[in-house]
Amino acid sequence: MAAALYDPAGGFFTSRSLRSVKDGDFLTSPEVSPLFGQTLAKFVDDELLAVSDRGAVLVEVGAGSGSLLGPLLATLATPVEAWAVEASPAARQALRGVLPPDRVTDSLDRLPGRFSGVVIANELVDNLPVALAVRKGEGWEERWVGVRGGTLVLVPVEARPEVADWADRFGLPAPEGGLVEVQLAAGEWLRSVLERLAAGAVLVIDYGDTAENLERRRVDGTLRTYRAHHLGPDPLDEPGETDITVDVNFSALIALAEQTGAAVEYDRQEGLLGALGLRERLRQLRYRELALARDGDPMERLKIRSLRTEAETLLHPRGLGDFRVLVVRRGQTLA
Ligand SMILES: C[S@@+](CC[C@H](N)C(=O)[O-])C[C@H]1O[C@@H](n2cnc3c(N)ncnc32)[C@H](O)[C@@H]1O
Repeated sequence: MAAALYDPAGGFFTSRSLRSVKDGDFLTSPEVSPLFGQTLAKFVDDELLAVSDRGAVLVEVGAGSGSLLGPLLATLATPVEAWAVEASPAARQALRGVLPPDRVTDSLDRLPGRFSGVVIANELVDNLPVALAVRKGEGWEERWVGVRGGTLVLVPVEARPEVADWADRFGLPAPEGGLVEVQLAAGEWLRSVLERLAAGAVLVIDYGDTAENLERRRVDGTLRTYRAHHLGPDPLDEPGETDITVDVNFSALIALAEQTGAAVEYDRQEGLLGALGLRERLRQLRYRELALARDGDPMERLKIRSLRTEAETLLHPRGLGDFRVLVVRRGQTLA
């Protein structure tokens, strides 16, 4: 998965085109509507208020085209040093149109040491490489990728201890033969973000669920590919040509955050954006649309209408609104 997505010579994210755009392979909340970034600006303002440090930093990891950062920074009231961390060279190029070029980087290691502020990751964690564990009796087998007759195949091997430990903690109740995606890299990513964050908040938004719900719902696991907005072929069929993704196991991220002493909130996107004022904003747009319908410019009315309908999809309870939201806070001194 790491090679297929990130290999410098042919990885899906490291090859030339920009993936998270309307004519790309998947459509994310900030690509659907600028109201996503505008609404999250309030989240960032609120969190920065609780951080006493004046040189606060905002980091978006996996920032894609900049469609979240652009509207967010244009709306934000608090001055902040904004950074983007992006694995894709094409996305970094696009982000240089939103941020000063030296604030766009490919690694958390290039951020300014330990900092206070806010870190945002929208639809990043589902792309971090997983191991595959299969329930066998009381234990686990792993599936590695091998080559047979020039074709990639899955090969059963004894599970590494760290994989079996993770699967015991966050992969149950898996039935015999049930498949679990072991999300060690997601945990390492969150740990390395929290190590850098002296005070502030990490906001993770993604599809996924708690361990228990994931295993009840998907005994064959959730690993899948996307291409051109549709489910793609088997992940082994065309490595480098498709997005490979899993449902995020939020129980594992919550356990890791709590282990570091951080405070955790878990919600749905619908709940977060509603609490930040998006429903009120939609109500205002509806009034404006009605006023324009009575005696206004029809083109202006259409513009408002599409802004409203796009933003409504961010709250859809069976769509983007059902995405999970994890807020991890540490070391804050409340004003
Ligand atoms: C599904 S896209 C989401 C883009 C953007 N956050 C959005 O919501 O439109 C995932 C993005 O994360 C980037 N990415 C994946 N793994 C990464 C990593 N380990 N570090 C930084 N960026 C990464 C990819 O290049 C891609 O742009």
